[in-house]
Amino acid sequence: MSGRIPQSFINELLARVDIVDIIERRINLKKTGKNYSACCPFHNEKTPSFSVSPDKQFYYCFGCGVSGNALTFIMEYEGQEFVAAIEDLAQTMGLEIPREAYDGPKQTFQDHLYPLMEKVSDYYQQQLKNNPNAKNAINYLKNRGLSGEIAKKYAIGYAPDDWQNLLKLSSSSKDLQQDLVDTGMMIKNDKGHTYDRFRDRIMFPIRNRRGQVIGYGGRIIDQGEPKYLNSPETNLFHKGRELYGLYEMRKELRSIQQIIIVEGYMDVVALAQFGIYNATATLGTATSSEHLQTLFRICSRVVFCFDGDKAGKAAAIRALQNALPLLKDAREIRIMFLPDGEDPDTMVRKIGAEEFNQNVDEAITLFDFLLQYLTSQVDMNTFEGPARLVHLAKPFSLAITDSILKTRFDQRLASLAGLSEKQLNDAIQKDQTAQKPVRTPVSASNTENALFEVKPIKIQGKAPFRRAIALLLQNPDALPAAKLDWVKQLDEAGARIFSRLCSLIDQNEGISTGMLIEHWRDQAEETHLKKLANSDLIISREQMPSELADLLSRLEKEIIIDEWDRLIAKSKLQPLNQEEKTSLKSLQKEMLNRG
Ligand code: CTP
Ligand code: MN
Repeated sequence: MSGRIPQSFINELLARVDIVDIIERRINLKKTGKNYSACCPFHNEKTPSFSVSPDKQFYYCFGCGVSGNALTFIMEYEGQEFVAAIEDLAQTMGLEIPREAYDGPKQTFQDHLYPLMEKVSDYYQQQLKNNPNAKNAINYLKNRGLSGEIAKKYAIGYAPDDWQNLLKLSSSSKDLQQDLVDTGMMIKNDKGHTYDRFRDRIMFPIRNRRGQVIGYGGRIIDQGEPKYLNSPETNLFHKGRELYGLYEMRKELRSIQQIIIVEGYMDVVALAQFGIYNATATLGTATSSEHLQTLFRICSRVVFCFDGDKAGKAAAIRALQNALPLLKDAREIRIMFLPDGEDPDTMVRKIGAEEFNQNVDEAITLFDFLLQYLTSQVDMNTFEGPARLVHLAKPFSLAITDSILKTRFDQRLASLAGLSEKQLNDAIQKDQTAQKPVRTPVSASNTENALFEVKPIKIQGKAPFRRAIALLLQNPDALPAAKLDWVKQLDEAGARIFSRLCSLIDQNEGISTGMLIEHWRDQAEETHLKKLANSDLIISREQMPSELADLLSRLEKEIIIDEWDRLIAKSKLQPLNQEEKTSLKSLQKEMLNRG
């Protein structure tokens, strides 16, 4: 675990990159006036509605609504996590990432383990080719129909039948043994002896999204137990996060319309042998929501491929529970069941790529499967049937977060159970409090506001700052010179956002729209701000400063009058206290000043 990346570095990074350059490296952009445009890389289209603004350092698609800064683009386009995207961007810019001091357990994350794993991988691949004892392994792979080309693409190797192979990899490093234990490639037993974990096995390297080898699956040749031996969890390798074959998929395919999730290494490799590269496998674990999120960053349609037997159905139900909360917008999950006794590897060999792909295209949607499954679990002809159905369906219904999908699901459920929607809702709501996952909102850091210990004035029922926020976001240079302390006193969400924008612009010269948005990443207001950053304000960039100044002075005046009215009204009912009297005087003075 290493320390956090300081926010100041992220700011600097975004200040230095040019979003046009970052995006142009990946897709073709065409200059159209001030901006650049392209066919949106995040949805299918024939005419360009994706627009990149160098002024704002911000991109936006008028078709599908995606938007963000350079960092967001890399995350979305490359399917990378936040930190990986920062690393990517920093590397492009030739910048070293500083880390804040980490005062947790001793820092064990070690970058030098990656080259070591690469070395191990080279060694295993070379052994598959050259070691005379690898004949069985080669024959086995050939018998299973794998070509040398595919073996090479997936860097398949062979671990020789010896206990101390890997220590020979290098003579120089005295830490080699410890490093090999840290990567899980060697095992240290109770007596302190170390030995190679993988012996006489076919080695499938597992690569992360950047192509670095982080772990292995080792298959026994032919029969034997255990069939697969896998790397343990290490600092490099986390099973719940990684997907086998994903790196190779992205390397092979320029555009990915849908991704098939299969169960095994051999399934991925065999499908690739048939030209089906859009398959990936979890590593002996159920598909986690982290897995799914990774996949949804790459494309919007994911197809689970399960065995058709009972275990396969059970696996499908387990996968559903993680998947339901993630479904929204254009995201789609389908499920495909194979005939009993088949897996994707045997299936594709039997029916060929074309028919296999057709089965994938025709896979049943997750909701249809869920409803089928639920109704198959109860006897609807009995008196209790419908009630049992609702009971079984409740956790699923509650797990759906998208409101349209939830409504549709509940409608279908109600009609199956012979209830009105209201009756169904009542039934589901009954103990919802006990089941509904609670989402704690991420609170915006209020450091800027904490400086101002002024009694807030309530302004309610209006959203007067909406346009002010949009103006300032779209053109940070529009920040007025006038003091805006009065805004900080307002107890209103928009005013708070506006204040924070002012502080950020004040403290960071040359800050762009894209950089401003970065400060709200993963916070509740992010989506809203992105929309404002791109809303059409009708006026030109040059007109924005004066409009903002006018707008603010109008707002201030309104607020002064409101507060004055309030105090006058109050004074008619009861005498004002000293503080209120002073306040009234200064308000009066302000009003005179302004006419
Ligand atoms: N698995 C494992 N350990 C085992 C068996 C299976 O980790 N002892 C994991 C592996 O990731 C494996 C997946 O579960 O790829 C699916 O298992 P299985 O269907 O048995 O293996 P296949 O990939 O089909 O391999 P093969 O066709 O070579 O039998
Ligand atoms: Mn198999």
